[in-house]
Amino acid sequence: MCGIVGYIGEFNALMASMEGLQNLEYRGYDSAGVAFDKNNSIQIYKTKGRVRDLKLKLQETHASLSIGHTRWATHGEANDINAHPHSSRDGRFVLVHNGIIENYQRLKLMYVKEYPFISQTDTEVIVQLIEYFSKEMTVPESIRKTMSLLEGSYACLILDREHLDRIYFIKDKSPLLIGKSTLGMSFSSDITGLMDYANEYMILEDKSFGVVTAKEIELYDVIGLKLSLDFKPISIKKEDIDKHTYTHYMLKEIHEQPMMVRNLIDRYFIKDEVNISKRLLHQIRQSDKINFVACGSSMYASYYAKYYFEKLCGIPCEVFCASELVYSTPLITKRPFFIFFSQSGETADCIAVMKKCKKQGYPTLTITNTKESSMVHLSKYYLDLYAGKEIAVASTKAYTAMIVVSAILARAVHMSKTNIKNNLKAVSLAMEKVLENEEVYKGIAKEIKDSSDAFFIGRGMDYWTSLEAALKLKEIAYIHTEAFPSGELKHGPIALIHKDTPVLAIITQEGTNRITRSNLMETASRGAKTFVISTKDLASLDDDIILPNVAHYLSGLISALVVQLIAYYAALYKNNDIDKPKNLAKSVTVE
Ligand code: AGP
Ligand code: GLU
Repeated sequence: MCGIVGYIGEFNALMASMEGLQNLEYRGYDSAGVAFDKNNSIQIYKTKGRVRDLKLKLQETHASLSIGHTRWATHGEANDINAHPHSSRDGRFVLVHNGIIENYQRLKLMYVKEYPFISQTDTEVIVQLIEYFSKEMTVPESIRKTMSLLEGSYACLILDREHLDRIYFIKDKSPLLIGKSTLGMSFSSDITGLMDYANEYMILEDKSFGVVTAKEIELYDVIGLKLSLDFKPISIKKEDIDKHTYTHYMLKEIHEQPMMVRNLIDRYFIKDEVNISKRLLHQIRQSDKINFVACGSSMYASYYAKYYFEKLCGIPCEVFCASELVYSTPLITKRPFFIFFSQSGETADCIAVMKKCKKQGYPTLTITNTKESSMVHLSKYYLDLYAGKEIAVASTKAYTAMIVVSAILARAVHMSKTNIKNNLKAVSLAMEKVLENEEVYKGIAKEIKDSSDAFFIGRGMDYWTSLEAALKLKEIAYIHTEAFPSGELKHGPIALIHKDTPVLAIITQEGTNRITRSNLMETASRGAKTFVISTKDLASLDDDIILPNVAHYLSGLISALVVQLIAYYAALYKNNDIDKPKNLAKSVTVE
C-alpha cells in the first residue's frame, strides 16, 4: 500500500527517487510526488495518477537529496493537491508520509488552527506542527515533539530547506527501511525500492527517529537514546522482478508455480528428511492449540494448514482473520502457538496481532515471502516461502507456496514418514499439465466475464479453494463473486441464482463428489450456467475441466491454478489493469 523513498548521496538523487518509486509501484497507489533540492531551495512535483505521469511533469536536473511518495489515499480524494509531498506554511519543511494520523483534527485545533491548510489529508498537520515547534526548538527537537503527539501510523521523510545536507525520518507502525552504500543513503518502504542504490539494509523499529547525511546515520528511540545500527546485505536483484516476455506479472507468477514447488522441495528437504529448526518443531509440538492469523488469500491458505496440523499432528487449530482478532479476545489455551501467513510480511492487522502476542509472551512463527519484512523482524520464528518476489497485487504463487510449506511443516512436526516429497513432485508435474490447457480456461472466462454475479461452490478443501477463487475473480475481473459450501446454498444463497448466473463447482474429494454434483444440479434447475472442475478419478464425461490426479490433500494446489487463470483471462477480456487492480494495494500497511 503506497510507498516512500528517499536518497542522499553522490548519485542523482532525483533519479534515485524516481527509480525507487517505479520499483514500489506494484504496492498500489493513486498519486505520486517528489521533492528535491535545487539552487538551495526545495522543488516539489506531484500529480494524481501514475509515476509515469509524474515523470512527464519533471525536467531533468541533478539533485543531491530527494524524497518521493506514492499515495494510497486514506483522507481526502486522490488529486494533485492531496498528493504528497506536503510543505509547512513557510515552505521550510517538506514531508512525505505513509500511514494514518488518527488524531489529526484534534492536533490541528490544539496547535495550528491559525495555519492555512491546503490539502484534505491527515498528513499536512505533521509538517505544520514541525514548523510550529521549530520556532522555539531545534529541528530535531521539534520533529521529536511532533512525533510524541501523533496517534496512528506513520513513516515520514522530512526535508529542511535550511539544512539541505540531511533527511530526517520518523517511523511508527508503517514500514520503513534505510539502505546504505559507500556512495549514499536511501530509504524505502520495502526492499525493492532500495535495491538499485544500496547494498545493505536495516529495518527501522517503531517509534524511531533519526537523521541521515550522505555518509552518516543517527538513530534514536522515542526518548532520544541513541540506537545501534544493524545492517544486513541486500540479496534481491533487478532480474528478480523482471516480467520477461509475459504480458502481466500475474501470468508470469501463475506460470512459476510448478518451479516454485520444486524449489520448495529443494529448500526444505535434505534427502527425505525435512530441514526445519528443531527448536521450532519442538515448540509447536509442545503447544495445545495452533492459532493461524492472516488476511485475504493468506487466510484462505491457512485453512489448508489447519487441516494438515489437525489431521497429521492431532493439534487443535483455529484460523483467525487478523483484522478481527486485533479487536477481540478469544479464549486462549494454556500453551498456544501462533502462526502468521503473509506474502508481504507487512500486513498491518497481522502486525497488530503479533505485537499483542509478543506482549503476552506467546510464541510466533511468520511464514512469508519477504524475509526483509516487519513481521519477520517481530516474530520469534520465521519460514520462507521461497516463491520469488510476487509483484501482481493478486496473490497466486505465494498462496500456493503457503499451502506447500504448511504441508511440509506439519509433516516435520509429526515426524511422519508420509511420502510428501514424492507427492509434491507429482504436484509440480500436474501443475505443468494444467498450465497447458489455457484455451479451456479462456473459454470459461469468456462465458462469465460479463456476468454481474458468479458463485463458486465446493465442500471441505474445495470450499477453501472456492473462497480463493471468488476473491481472485472479485479482485481483478471486478465480478461480484461469492463462495459457498455447496450444502449451504439452499439455506439462503440459492435465492440469488437466476437465469445464466455462473456457478462453478470444484470437485476434488471423493467423499463429497456426489453431493456437490447434486447441489450444483439444484442451481442448474433454477437457470444457473454451471461448470464443473473435477479431478480425473472423479470426473464425469461432460465436466468442463478435468485435472490430473494428485494426493487428495494436495489437490487444492492444482485447482488453484485453474481458478487463477479463469480470473486472469476474465480480467484480460475486460481490459482491466490486471497487475494493479483498482482500489487495491499489494501491501496493506494500514489497519
Ligand atoms: C490476494 O490476492 C489479495 N491481494 C489479498 O487478499 C492478500 O492476500 C491480503 O491482503 C494479505 O496480504 P499478505 O499476504 O501480504 O499479508
Ligand atoms: N493518510 C495519508 C493520505 O491520505 C497518507 C496515505 C498513504 O499512506 O499513502 O494522504
